[in-house]
Amino acid sequence: MSRPVRLAVAGAGLIGRRHIEQIIACPEAVLTAVIDPAPAARELAQALGVRWSPSLDDLPAEDRPEGVVIATPNRMHVANGMACLAAGLPALIEKPLADDVAAAQALVEAFERAGVPLLTGHHRRHNPMIQRAKAEIENGRLGRIVAVSGLFWLIKPDDYFDAAWRREPGAGPVLINLIHDIDLLRHLCGDIVAVQAAQSNRVRGHAVEDTAAIILHFASGALGTFSVSDTVQAPWSYEFTSGENPAYSRTQESCYQIGGTKGSLAIPQLDLWRHPDAASWWAPIASERLSYRMQDPLALQIANFCAVIRGTAAPVVSGREGLTTLRVIAAIKRAAASGICEPV
Ligand SMILES: NC(=O)c1ccc[n+]([C@@H]2O[C@H](COP(=O)([O-])OP(=O)(O)OC[C@H]3O[C@@H](n4cnc5c(N)ncnc54)[C@H](O)[C@@H]3O)[C@@H](O)[C@H]2O)c1
Repeated sequence: MSRPVRLAVAGAGLIGRRHIEQIIACPEAVLTAVIDPAPAARELAQALGVRWSPSLDDLPAEDRPEGVVIATPNRMHVANGMACLAAGLPALIEKPLADDVAAAQALVEAFERAGVPLLTGHHRRHNPMIQRAKAEIENGRLGRIVAVSGLFWLIKPDDYFDAAWRREPGAGPVLINLIHDIDLLRHLCGDIVAVQAAQSNRVRGHAVEDTAAIILHFASGALGTFSVSDTVQAPWSYEFTSGENPAYSRTQESCYQIGGTKGSLAIPQLDLWRHPDAASWWAPIASERLSYRMQDPLALQIANFCAVIRGTAAPVVSGREGLTTLRVIAAIKRAAASGICEPV
């Protein structure tokens, strides 16, 4: 095997530490540095025996990384990405690529112009369960996709909102959480060309929404609905149903239904429902559970980053894909703010 790819992680917070664990566990990668001004990050670098730097503008000259995972707060992503680009370093940037579309577009275009790889951290696309679902949709077993339904319903505890930014525009479940779901639905069912939306802050009363209802128009002509709330006690979210993150208790429910003329697929359980005898509501309907091999998508994402740096693979989620998903989320926010019609 060729020598491991040298990676640094910028931002050693909640998700950055999970990336660090994955890099350490990955035989194709080696962690060279932790870049984060926080004293706790410096201690972590010391404990791991890797270099530490407070900022990407101050990268250690020795032990230069070949790529950087950026897991800093959203508002830092563009500056951090540009610092990597200035050093000619490929970057894997956590979602959202930036906190606004124009800045994300400038970032993507700068990487593309320079021919330096940029990846977006929509790690769920790496999940073999999602890849199996995508293969079933693409091989036509569901027929023509007509309708899509999705739920992100869970409850965040009150102390989650102690941090002021989580109560303000720029946070909220549409920007923070739904962006993952929208990215997956785009991946599974194709581009989203228009949206309609409504939002409410009635339960918590924060400036930011706690609940939203969304209609999705896919380029294929399929229509989708998505219901979002971080203030209901419920088992129906990708977080609770996929088993990806052990921090959440796992339920045996599904959070998306993809409906086609020949069958429907419940995700993540991968139950494929069809009428075996006749396509009729009078005929019996049966389900079959599709199989896949569970693997940690964060680990697969690091392996893909290494392969991209080596030049042996294309990004599973490019910067441009992350930008397109961000555009849909921005459209949902605009649609939700643009008013509603009352019955007259
Ligand atoms: N893919 C996912 O499932 C997932 C999950 C959680 C968070 N995220 C994303 O990851 C990012 C980080 O979120 P988090 O919850 O880990 O945040 P966090 O606040 O826990 O960690 C952020 C870290 O970045 C450090 N930091 C701040 N400015 C920095 C700079 N200029 N250079 C280097 N380090 C800097 C902070 O000291 C902190 O340690 C966000 O963009 C978030 O949206 C993604």
